[in-house]
Amino acid sequence: MCGIIAYIGNKPVMPILIQGLQRLEYRGYDSAGIALVEEGELTIIKTKGSVDSLSDLLRESKHQAVYGIGHTRWATHGVPSDTNAHPHASCDNKLTLVHNGIIENYKELREQLISEGHKFISETDTEIVVHTIEKYYQGNLEEAVIKGIQDLQGAYALALISAQEEKIVLVRKQSPLIIGVGEGECYAASDIPALLPYTKKVVILEEGDIAILRKDNFQVINSEGKEKRVEVIETTWDAHLAEKSGYPHFMLKEIYEQPTVLKDTLRERVSEDQLLLDEADLGDLIPNLRKVYFGACGTAYHATLVGKLYLETLCDLEAETEVASEFRYRDVPWVKPAVGIIVSQSGETADTLGVLSRLKELSYPVIGITNVIGSSVSRESDRTIYTRAGPEISVASTKAYTSQMLVLLLLALSWSKKRNKLNYEKERYYIKELKELPFKAQQVLDKSELFLEIARELKEVKHLFYLGRLQDYYTALEGALKMKEISYLHAEAYAGGELKHGPLALIENNTPVIAFLSNKSIAPKMLSNFEEVRSRGGKIYLFTTLDIKESSFRIVKLPDSDMLVSPILNGLVLQLLAYYTARECGASIDKPRNLAKSVTVE
Ligand code: F6R
Repeated sequence: MCGIIAYIGNKPVMPILIQGLQRLEYRGYDSAGIALVEEGELTIIKTKGSVDSLSDLLRESKHQAVYGIGHTRWATHGVPSDTNAHPHASCDNKLTLVHNGIIENYKELREQLISEGHKFISETDTEIVVHTIEKYYQGNLEEAVIKGIQDLQGAYALALISAQEEKIVLVRKQSPLIIGVGEGECYAASDIPALLPYTKKVVILEEGDIAILRKDNFQVINSEGKEKRVEVIETTWDAHLAEKSGYPHFMLKEIYEQPTVLKDTLRERVSEDQLLLDEADLGDLIPNLRKVYFGACGTAYHATLVGKLYLETLCDLEAETEVASEFRYRDVPWVKPAVGIIVSQSGETADTLGVLSRLKELSYPVIGITNVIGSSVSRESDRTIYTRAGPEISVASTKAYTSQMLVLLLLALSWSKKRNKLNYEKERYYIKELKELPFKAQQVLDKSELFLEIARELKEVKHLFYLGRLQDYYTALEGALKMKEISYLHAEAYAGGELKHGPLALIENNTPVIAFLSNKSIAPKMLSNFEEVRSRGGKIYLFTTLDIKESSFRIVKLPDSDMLVSPILNGLVLQLLAYYTARECGASIDKPRNLAKSVTVE
């Protein structure tokens, strides 16, 4: 949802801003722009289109400025256009800013500002912010910001500069913003990966923080102007993790990283004879727990469906999950003692955070499962379990999804032990399954030629179905989402038994049905459902851990694995299928149309 980058130091700022924007482009890519100050003159260059279009515009530019701000946009208010692109400037062209978030009271503020003589040129909510700051500006940017933000309602991460002062001012409210600390230079960005080529030392701004960056130092203050002590942390992520490293797309690279990611997620949590997930240890609460409430969106929500199954199966524990945008506004019978589990790759998804705050208001302890250190989910939860997937750049979530399910499985197993439901033999059995998982993930990846072959057939169709029962149904839901998202083919997921209640009407000659089967007990039922499809001309592609002999289906045998582990392996299958189909369709894989990673608006 829009990417922000800023730099102040001794180096020419333009290439730093452009490279930073290229790294942030997965957050939005409908327009891009930069602003810089040189000899007291403010210059703004912006355009509709990608960061590459901006870079083309700047090719002949001779600017040598050493500080500035940049933005890549995912439109909310106002169509993608040169005018609506950020940065936006004040009437006197002395102040400018970039924004990630939504200003909710922008209409009232706009009318008010117009009546005070301000002129607007864009349709954005952001433009009112710069005029509001201009109204209070008397030569000190942070003072104007402290006053100006009191008029704003909504979510905003802002980076501002003035032509009259050599500094960058940042503000964070409900949208992420990170400071990067260099030698004689400071950076800011919407996320850590954008900063990795320059520095590993970062400060994660907290709710309401205002930061002032200068060449040699930075300062963080609160909304009353009081200085705050902040911690500079050193990230363990490496710059190469945020690069394609020879892969044609980030998505493929991230799919292929999964054996390592799964190994990393298991590290120190599974020994020869013990499962340990200290982060999930809520002491005496666990044996008496009556319920778990999940909060998540999109792919992370699909991981929680599997998480719910884990808790029910392994812990005999009731769990409720629903997409966060619905759950946050629903009234349900609130049971106690219960725990909230919030799952989010970015840790910044607005609706997911909405559920988190609601659960906190209801005084439930909350465990956050996230991939990003210092993210809102990690800060606002009582406990955080990190997925250790490394930076996920592709908009379509892959390695974060499988590592979320793995963490949920570890959590369910450790709670199962606490609730006396996991005996020694069972624990040893799961340890063995978990240790084999990264190798089995590699075996799935080794079948990539097969997925490519199937993708070549799928690209010819407009509609396809995904089918499964129980955990395989959750895989089907994620499979259909991934296929729609990156290949733009229309894909629908159904529980095996549901097809005949309506959608079977759409099955005709050669309609592809991608099916998953990893549960022996329901295999006969699924096979009957396949017959229903086949007798209407549908074409079954079956991905299964079972030994099924059926010459009329296309069967891909997956590595044998426990039923509860299979959703993780199936994750790789559905990702490879979607990836190769999108590639065959010539789609823009890492940056699908209309989508952005990290959805920080409702
Ligand atoms: C789909 C996808 C999205 C995200 C969703 C939640 O491939 O990536 O559905 O899963 O926007 O994002 P996080 O996990 O960052 O909260």
